[in-house]
Amino acid sequence: MAPNFYSIFLITILLQAFSNINVTAQALFPAILVFGDSAVDTGNNNFINTIISPNRADHPPYGRDFPSHKPNGRFSNGKLVPDFLADTLGLKESVPPFLDPHLSDKDLITGVCFGSAGSGFDDLTSKTTKAIPMSKQVEYFKKYIERVTRIVGEKRAKEIIRKAIVVINSGINDFVINYYDLPTKRLQYDINEYQDFVLQRLQSFVEEVHELGCRTIIVTGLPPIGCLPIQMTARFKLPNERKCLEDQNSDAMLYNQKLKKLIPHAQASLPGTRILYADVYTPFSDLVKNPEENGFKVTDRGCCGTGYIETGSLCNILTPTCKNATEFVFWDSAHPTEAAYQYVHDSLLEELGPQIINDPKFSVS
Ligand SMILES: *[C@@H]1O[C@H](CO)[C@@H](O)[C@H](O)[C@H]1NC(C)=O
Repeated sequence: MAPNFYSIFLITILLQAFSNINVTAQALFPAILVFGDSAVDTGNNNFINTIISPNRADHPPYGRDFPSHKPNGRFSNGKLVPDFLADTLGLKESVPPFLDPHLSDKDLITGVCFGSAGSGFDDLTSKTTKAIPMSKQVEYFKKYIERVTRIVGEKRAKEIIRKAIVVINSGINDFVINYYDLPTKRLQYDINEYQDFVLQRLQSFVEEVHELGCRTIIVTGLPPIGCLPIQMTARFKLPNERKCLEDQNSDAMLYNQKLKKLIPHAQASLPGTRILYADVYTPFSDLVKNPEENGFKVTDRGCCGTGYIETGSLCNILTPTCKNATEFVFWDSAHPTEAAYQYVHDSLLEELGPQIINDPKFSVS
């Protein structure tokens, strides 16, 4: 089934499911709120003082296939999953970064992104990369609530936050930066212990956004980290023998299993809250294993430069790029293309849509 058709199909089901109480997609979720790392950062790092940061994507060729065709801070050639999701929900075509000084009232009340490329659940990760730590993202969220309250009043602001769909996507940098590529945490924890540490931080983060009023929270798992081109390069894989690193992939799968187990407990301790696990591992793994089935051709390197190492400041205006990024799963050595994100969005919708519809506890009132 064509992906676009499927999203339309699902949103139609969603709308039909609620048509008897006469709500629109907007009423279903009045806003989208996004926390996390470079997979969801829509441009916050453009506005923080990170000298010449490797964690900025505000230069060409980033953003070349975005509607504006301009670099905007997204670590991709075009849109990210939250942008596609906001569009599917009928909210807006893309999710603006909270730190953008030119946000309109409408931008604010329909939701923003607090994510920051390079951040992780472990504060040490963000310290290393000079990103906005998750703890600081929560502080920005408090400021956001104040601003929305000033625009629509306290009652409506509370309602927006309560009904908003929250997306939390973080964790990969904790493993890639802190654990695999730098030995910082490896000296202190084995992988099992470090996973538990990261998951503990994740749970506290969910509790904090719950405390601030959020009730529908999507938490994503890890993708197959060992299939990132940069991870293969770090293991000195030669171009003709590049294969996903099975050890890092099985670590990611174990983390995901633990996260899936954690969610019902977290949900039980937060009454009235829905926490949904979003499996991003499977769709990414499908793309890498069966690229042709889904219209892709290249999976083991990015579109930017050689595709083996370039990301952030190394992928720049002087770097040659592939012609057609829709054939590539990866845009740079560490980040997917818009086409891959579109595929993941469609898969998440397929997975989560029915859960949203069939949850008897979920009421739109
Ligand atoms: C890019 O590649 C896709 C998939 O192979 C193809 O359908 C599309 O026509 C190509 N676009 C251009 C501009 O070559």
